[in-house]
Amino acid sequence: MSKAIAGFSKLAKEQKIEWIAGEYFSNPAEAIELIKKYWNDDAALQKLHDEFIENTITNFYLPLGVAPNFSINGRDYTIPMAVEESSVVAAAAKAAKFWARRGGFKATVINTEKIGQVHFIYKGDTGKLTAFFKNIKDKLISGTHDLTRNMEKRGGGILDIELRDKTALLPGYFQLHATFETVDSMGANFINSCLERFSKILKEEAAKYAVFTDEEKEIQVVMSILSNYVPGCTVRAEVSCPVAQLDEGNGMPPEEFAQKFVTAVQIAEVEPYRAVTHNKGIMNGIDAVVVATGNDFRAVEAGIHAYAAKDGQYTSLSHAKVENGIFTHWIEVPLALGTVGGLTTLHPLVKLCLQMLGNPSAKELMQIVAVAGLAQNFAALRSLTTTGIQQGHMKMHLMNILNQLGANEGEKQQAAKYFETNTVSHAAVADYIKAIRQTTTPA
Ligand code: MEV
Repeated sequence: MSKAIAGFSKLAKEQKIEWIAGEYFSNPAEAIELIKKYWNDDAALQKLHDEFIENTITNFYLPLGVAPNFSINGRDYTIPMAVEESSVVAAAAKAAKFWARRGGFKATVINTEKIGQVHFIYKGDTGKLTAFFKNIKDKLISGTHDLTRNMEKRGGGILDIELRDKTALLPGYFQLHATFETVDSMGANFINSCLERFSKILKEEAAKYAVFTDEEKEIQVVMSILSNYVPGCTVRAEVSCPVAQLDEGNGMPPEEFAQKFVTAVQIAEVEPYRAVTHNKGIMNGIDAVVVATGNDFRAVEAGIHAYAAKDGQYTSLSHAKVENGIFTHWIEVPLALGTVGGLTTLHPLVKLCLQMLGNPSAKELMQIVAVAGLAQNFAALRSLTTTGIQQGHMKMHLMNILNQLGANEGEKQQAAKYFETNTVSHAAVADYIKAIRQTTTPA
């Protein structure tokens, strides 16, 4: 039986669901019921969500949690986090509380420059192309005035355009490498629109540039697109305190904890296998806030991992040291974020999350997100170097296991009590539930 279909996108939502249910499920009615169970009763709200993407059939839930008690640059925040992994929010909240009592987090935006490129092929004299570019540079900028006007009013716009010769990498390959300031918007649409205008001007001007031969006039624009690699849009977040204050709940002397913690970070700095997992933990915090605030987590992920490999080897995004009895743990990451435009005004929960953060500027959000990443890293390394990660993880995972086993409320309460002092594993929980069911089942 063929499962291919023509004209699917033109079907009504109900028809799409019926087709999927009929094609892929042995019990189509059950599948349809489940899909519809996740629809919102508020038809207008549902329509809003339906229209974010194509071929929407229902909503896909992610829990939205909050991590309170974050002190960042002396200001208190409750940070919203949309994430499915148990223990991420709890870890953030724990780290926030720990550092709130030790001076809190300090964060600084280092720079905010975004990048976009027109990639083109020119098979001709490089000197002539350089002269041509000098000639048209002002036109490239003035020719986008209708696109940049509003952004300029908000303090942003095009910062510069360079001609870059990449022919050593690929025959005939050149770029217009442009830099932008997009203030509080992530700026993807703004940048891409400017780039497409640059490419149009580039081709039109080349076609009438008298110095070019006919072949040189035929510049081929391959593509015009922003770069998600933003090493010029970075933020630093930091915590520090006297080593003696690292005394709480680690189960080991503060000096030993600090030394082990710093060594754990050094391992991530030199060993890519560890660095990837170390950074994954950081992304647990970063992505959760990026998603909750309606930002593009794929762009953030791609840019951050490229940054982690910028010196030729994938390495840790965070660093730690002890100097003169002071423990310092910090992170530096590129983050292209927006607090206006995109989903920020459309998605009601994104709006709510931004409001919870005090409607931050993009710069402030960069600081909050970097702090969420650092907090997550601190919590992970603190567990890893002391109790081990599984104790906390499995405690948080206990509820998932109980739900998988269909435990009722009474059973959940009994299990939570029992596993306060016993090691959680899937098998141990299954055995425990089986045992209490046997003792409570009437003979
Ligand atoms: C799990 O989601 C994240 C950790 O593996 C991070 C780390 O190892 O640093 C705990």
